[in-house]
Amino acid sequence: MREGRSSLRAKDVYSEHAGRPKHADRRMRGTEGHTTPRKAIRGCPAIHAFFPLLFGKPFLPLSLSAKLLVYIFSSLLYKLTSITRNTYTEMPDNTDASTTSSLSGVGTAPDASISHQDAIRYWNSVTPTVNGMLGGYPQISRIDLQGSANFISKLRRKSTLPSGVPKSKPPLLARAVDCGAGIGRITAGFLVNVAELVDIVEPVVKFTDEISTGQSFLPWREQGKIGQIYNLGLEDWTPTQQYSLIWNQWCVGQLTDAQLQAYLQRCATMLENGGWIVVKENLSTTISDEDIFDDVDSSVTRSDPNFRAIFEAANLKIVATEIQKGFPKDLYPVRIYALQPQ
Ligand SMILES: C[S@@+](CC[C@H](N)C(=O)[O-])C[C@H]1O[C@@H](n2cnc3c(N)ncnc32)[C@H](O)[C@@H]1O
Repeated sequence: MREGRSSLRAKDVYSEHAGRPKHADRRMRGTEGHTTPRKAIRGCPAIHAFFPLLFGKPFLPLSLSAKLLVYIFSSLLYKLTSITRNTYTEMPDNTDASTTSSLSGVGTAPDASISHQDAIRYWNSVTPTVNGMLGGYPQISRIDLQGSANFISKLRRKSTLPSGVPKSKPPLLARAVDCGAGIGRITAGFLVNVAELVDIVEPVVKFTDEISTGQSFLPWREQGKIGQIYNLGLEDWTPTQQYSLIWNQWCVGQLTDAQLQAYLQRCATMLENGGWIVVKENLSTTISDEDIFDDVDSSVTRSDPNFRAIFEAANLKIVATEIQKGFPKDLYPVRIYALQPQ
């Protein structure tokens, strides 16, 4: 069964996955979905208007080259109007997501459509399983966790350790936090192996029930590995502990750009010297680097330049970044960023 949409998404609305067309339901509802270059051309109104006139019946009495000229002109016109449509206008910062603007520009930015209420309603309807967390792709969890563990190992090899401590066997980090943790897939899958103590931030209580009372977490609870559990959205969470590692995966799309910037700034104030804020997220790959709003879980999928702009605005520098390898090709690329205060 396929569930949970913000985690992993096919980048092509026409691709097949798990036996049914990915996002076919979105197409039928006529929503924007995930714009790929192919989809953008399909959606071009100018081309649609001109095409039957030019090449359909009855034909316009024009030579083929004239028809082609008109066709190219209409495509350019569409491109121009789409650039205008994507030029945002600055709006006042506001904690109400529905009126918050994009940092990157002005106008009706995709993140202005985010509704935390809708998001929580959606996530409450998802089953508390890895399948639920990963939108019907539970099979990629192992490779995802492996990729994250390797990334952290590489980071730690680069970092300074007290003299005499071998870089191949660094001590556990003092405290990590799994943000937008869901059922604690990442905590159980690798954070407990790299940190003494792991806190959890997750707004949906039925997900954290597994962590606080579920059998699968019993060993970690007994070992004292699970710290505080905060049932809050990241937009409402202010860290009150010092962290060596603040892990954010497949959840920051639930925040507007302004909320994400403010949240990252709050995290930076509680980051241990030499610690990292990690953001691991899907990337939008539209030609013009637009973020894409998903009305199913009320989230945005950001482009790499927009992520970088938000990090910069939050006074964070990227100290390491890489694309997660080994995921199915029809999914959006997933990038992992390690951030530290500038
Ligand atoms: C795709 S799941 C990812 C869970 C986990 N990070 C993982 O990779 O297994 C997205 C999670 O974000 C949570 N979420 C929704 N809105 C959020 C918000 N405003 N702040 C933090 N997390 C949120 C959902 O409840 C859900 O658990």
